[in-house]
Amino acid sequence: MSNRYRPVPGPSGRFLIGNTYEYDSDRLGFLARTQREYGDVFRFSPTTVVVQDPELIHDVLVRTNAEFRAESPLVSGAAARFQDIIDRRLPVWMSTRRKGWRGMNSSGSVAYGSRLVGRFAAIMDEHAGREVDVLSVMRSFSGQAIADFCLGGRPEHGASVRAVAEAVDRAATAASALMSSSLTLPHWLPTPRIRRFRRTAQEVRSALLDQITRRRAAGDRPDTQDLLDELLHGAGAELTDEAVYDVLNVVLRASHGVPGASLSWIVRQFAMDPDLVARVRAEADEAGLGTSDAPLGTADLPYTEAVVKEALRMYPPTWLMGRDIVRETRVGEWNLQPGQHLMFCAYLVHRDPRWWKDPEEFLPQRWLGGDPPHGRYAYFPFGAGPRICLGNQLGMLQLVLATAWLATRFDIEVADLRSVVSAPQALLVPHGLRAVFHARA
Ligand code: HEM
Repeated sequence: MSNRYRPVPGPSGRFLIGNTYEYDSDRLGFLARTQREYGDVFRFSPTTVVVQDPELIHDVLVRTNAEFRAESPLVSGAAARFQDIIDRRLPVWMSTRRKGWRGMNSSGSVAYGSRLVGRFAAIMDEHAGREVDVLSVMRSFSGQAIADFCLGGRPEHGASVRAVAEAVDRAATAASALMSSSLTLPHWLPTPRIRRFRRTAQEVRSALLDQITRRRAAGDRPDTQDLLDELLHGAGAELTDEAVYDVLNVVLRASHGVPGASLSWIVRQFAMDPDLVARVRAEADEAGLGTSDAPLGTADLPYTEAVVKEALRMYPPTWLMGRDIVRETRVGEWNLQPGQHLMFCAYLVHRDPRWWKDPEEFLPQRWLGGDPPHGRYAYFPFGAGPRICLGNQLGMLQLVLATAWLATRFDIEVADLRSVVSAPQALLVPHGLRAVFHARA
């Protein structure tokens, strides 16, 4: 029977505010309870439908750019401007994705992999021996790591990598302050928050355009060392300065804080499980991390890679993803209309006992057998389809090398694990995780 006139079932919530209060009091709990009560497709509000069936989620993700438009929490709210940039330049963006990444994944990422460990080592040494907020340290590392990937290929421009990373961090902080409070204000209003948002965005823009000008002046190089090389002289050679700026800006902003959130969860897991640290350490020692001249890749550290995959399963930083419906379409048995919005919660799919054995256990070994340890499409920490995370391989490389480095070089002391709160905000992060990283002799 057609469901053309049958509404998607779901809780109607309270007068005027609907389900917002219940959701905001306990986001994951609300979604899990509602899924239990109404099934894998339920209505959150008159315009928003939540889809939790992995096959349906996959179907929507692969049809993005056609019936659906990506509306990621990574680039939502006040930062929706970046979504506009992507949408306005969708054809350029999609072709840069294809060309740029093919180039980077060959020569560029090998050069980058060998710089990555050095960068992590420098940041960790700066913070070792005193209590720190783990999330800010890891976020600072992942910010610098991605700025290095974009711009760090020429040692003579090295100092600017840190400056760009810091500018992006300030801009992301200003954007999230704006998102949390001023969403409804028009953006031309000169409130302090809006002025800060504009000023910090302008700082990022000036820093990136300055890098582009300098790099053009320095001329071509035979080997690609970073993304800017690739965009100016490789696969993206036909792009204007403005388009190159857009790509760098989107990459730096979309990745902001994401690998840092995962690394923080791994630090927490290490603090809870000394055997896990010992296994990662043994593997890294055997592979020669930090002692061998050859740069290591994820394939050299399979157990560490499994630890990272398991952390991304239990604590996916992008725990909630969204799509706008742009054309009348069907999802499973439901007809949906333009103007409606879909949400999927990776966190809940990743812990659903229908798709996973022992989903509440942290078991890296589940990834070491030959077959995927889950039901079809039930694992998507990087999304899927045409808008799958651009940095998925890079993100894995960062996480695997940093995890191995942490285990071999530090003993981690966390005074109070119970004070750590799992916070499903724009990203899923462990709030309140403070640790001392003691350098090992
Ligand atoms: C732990 C590491 C990371 C995770 C879990 C992650 C996750 C994701 C997810 C789930 C999406 C898709 C969102 C959606 O479909 O709505 C996404 C998009 C994106 N990610 Fe990542 N990400 C990570 C690291 C990175 C890194 C290191 C970069 C930098 C190269 C990056 C750049 C991007 C970009 C540019 C997009 C938007 C792509 C587009 O819309 O075409 N990510 N990421």
